[in-house]
This record gives sequence, C-alpha cells and structure tokens, in this order.
Amino acid sequence: MQTPVSAVVESLGAYVPSIILSNADLEKMVETSEEWIFERTGIRERRLAAQGMSTSDMAIEAAMSCLSSSAITAEEIDLIIVASASPDYAFPATACLVQNAISARSAAAFDMEIGCTGFIYAMATGSQYIASGVYRNVMVIGAETLSRIVDWKDRNTCVLFGDGAGAALLTAGKAGEGILAFHLGADGAQSQLLSLPAGLARSPASQDTLEKGLHYIHMEGKAVFKFAVKAMTSAINELLQRLGKTPDDIDLLIPHQANTRIIDSACQRFKIPREKVMVNIEKYGNTSSASIPIALHEAFQEGRIKKGDLVVLVGFGAGLSWGSIAIRW
Ligand code: ACO
Repeated sequence: MQTPVSAVVESLGAYVPSIILSNADLEKMVETSEEWIFERTGIRERRLAAQGMSTSDMAIEAAMSCLSSSAITAEEIDLIIVASASPDYAFPATACLVQNAISARSAAAFDMEIGCTGFIYAMATGSQYIASGVYRNVMVIGAETLSRIVDWKDRNTCVLFGDGAGAALLTAGKAGEGILAFHLGADGAQSQLLSLPAGLARSPASQDTLEKGLHYIHMEGKAVFKFAVKAMTSAINELLQRLGKTPDDIDLLIPHQANTRIIDSACQRFKIPREKVMVNIEKYGNTSSASIPIALHEAFQEGRIKKGDLVVLVGFGAGLSWGSIAIRW
C-alpha cells in the first residue's frame, strides 16, 4: 500500500550487550568449527545478554539512545511498538515496560510477534498511524534475547543467533519524504519450518516438553534458506514495482542479517553491488527483529545514508513472513 502522507525517521538508536561469544568459543560447546560457521553463515561472533538482562532492558537502552539524538521528548511519544520473538513475558507487553521506563506517559503501547520480519511489520504499522493523522510520534523497536530460547546443544541453530535491540522514532513529515511504500506478506502453510513449539497455550510447559527441548527454536535450516532467498527477492520486487523504480535506484539496501549467502544470492539476482548493501552479521549474528534497526543505526552512524537517498529495508522470518519498506531519507 502506498502511503499518501509520510512518516519520516526522526532518529535512530541501538544497543548490543558487551558479552561476545566467538566462533572459537562455540567450538568448545558443540561439534563445529570457526571456518564452518563463517563460510556457511558469514558470522564471526555474536553478543549475549548478561544474566539478569532481558529483552525489555535492551529495548529501553535502544529507546534512550534513539531519544538522545532527537528533538522529540519521551512525553511527546504517542505510541510505542516493540517487535520481538523473545519478549520478557507473554504478557504484559514489552512495549508497556519500555513505556514506563522511559516515562512516555502519553504513549499507547503494544507488541508485535512476527519473527524476524517484526521490525518491518512494526515500522509499516507505525507509519500508518502517522499517515492517517491518528498519531504524530511513534517509537518502533526491535529487541531480542534469542540466547534464552536457543538450544546451546544444537549446532544447527545455536551458532546462528545473537541478542540486541534497535529503535527508530517516526514522526509526521512532508509527503514524498520518509516512508514511501511498504510490502508485507505471509504464508502460514509453512509455519512449522521455524517455530518455538512449546511453553504457551498449544503445548504448555511440562516435564515432557522440557525433556524434548520443545521450548527452544526449531528450524528446518535448508527449507528456511530456500524460502528466505525467494522471500527477499519477491519483497524487493514488489516494493520497486509499487514505486516504479528499478534496483539501480536503491542507494542502500538493509536486509535482515540471517546469512550472508542469503543476502548475496538475492543481491546477485538484482545485480545490486555489495557496497550498496549493509551487512554487519559478522559481528552480531542473526538478532531476528533487532537485526534491521541495528544495521540501520550502524549504517547511519557510519555516514552511509545521505539526505535524499532511497533506503530499502527487507526482512523475512517465522510465520513464514516477509516484508520490505522504502524510505526517502
Ligand atoms: N557446524 C558444523 N557442521 C554443521 C553445523 C555447524 N554449526 N550445523 C550443521 N552442520 C552440518 C549438518 O549436520 C550437515 O551435516 P551432514 O551433511 O552430515 O548431515 C552439514 O553441516 C550441512 O548442513 P546443511 O543444513 O546442509 O548446511 P547449510 O549449508 O544448509 O547451512 C544453515 C545450514 C546455516 C542453518 C543454513 O541452512 C541457513 O542459514 N538456513 C537459514 C537459517 C535462517 O536464516 N534462519 C532464520 C531466518 S528467519 C529468522 O531470522 C528467525
């Protein structure tokens, strides 16, 4: 859907924990090798939340970092949306914990759970509250403590994920600037390829679910890989068609950081040169819904985004789901 009035990005923030788990560290935990992980995924290390630190704590840090470079105050925020596949609790919403901690007293708050596509869905949703005139300032956060829902004995998954949070403050701006368009998609028929099978209503936590490790991430890696390449390609295609643009018009592509091979094969299809693609998976691994806002913040900090640039965000993940957003900076 094309947005008639634009939500512009007022400021960005991010937080990653200081604890680093390298591929060499993982060699001591499961049967793997530094080379295998780097060659198959592009990851060298990931960050882990310290004991006692959780998703809301990192979301709060990212929100504070976002506010510190903004003229908008916490009191002026109308809505907070937190995207997370690893929230503190099923309820209360992590967004409510953030709202209290940053004293955003006037803000409504809710969570979105759509796996690694969470930040894209949350940003698209936030932009619509602004485009419709309902709200003026919306804080969108992606935050994850995946280290708590990963089976550290399963080499197929434990080498992939990391913890962190990123935030963007959206505000009402001139039409033709900011978020120009988005595309969202889902295919529930493939939902079992990537799931956290137990611990909630379908399969409450029990001795049996614990023994079977059903409270950990379960993933069919190869099938998810194939889906991811297709989803990323079609999400970019749909978006460009809506905008009447070509891949050449993209100044910076910020993909979900799941695997460099997924990113490379999608970029090869569009002939997008690597210097136009933000990749920082090497340092953080896959931080699910936090990966895009962390990468966006880092790209901005590094001066890779200039006023007037066309920045495209693209994500895919559990659901299965996918989405893309075009921002005129
Ligand atoms: N170290 C060493 N060997 C390993 C490891 C490991 N960490 N993990 C798997 N292997 C082995 C497998 O057991 C297999 O051995 P076998 O041939 O004896 O059976 C061999 O390596 C090859 O395994 P594949 O699964 O074929 O490896 P592949 O090249 O597909 O890479 C990977 C696996 C990295 C998981 C890949 O499939 C992938 O990236 N999938 C997508 C994952 C993803 O992005 N998920 C999240 C998307 S959505 C979200 O972010 C939540």
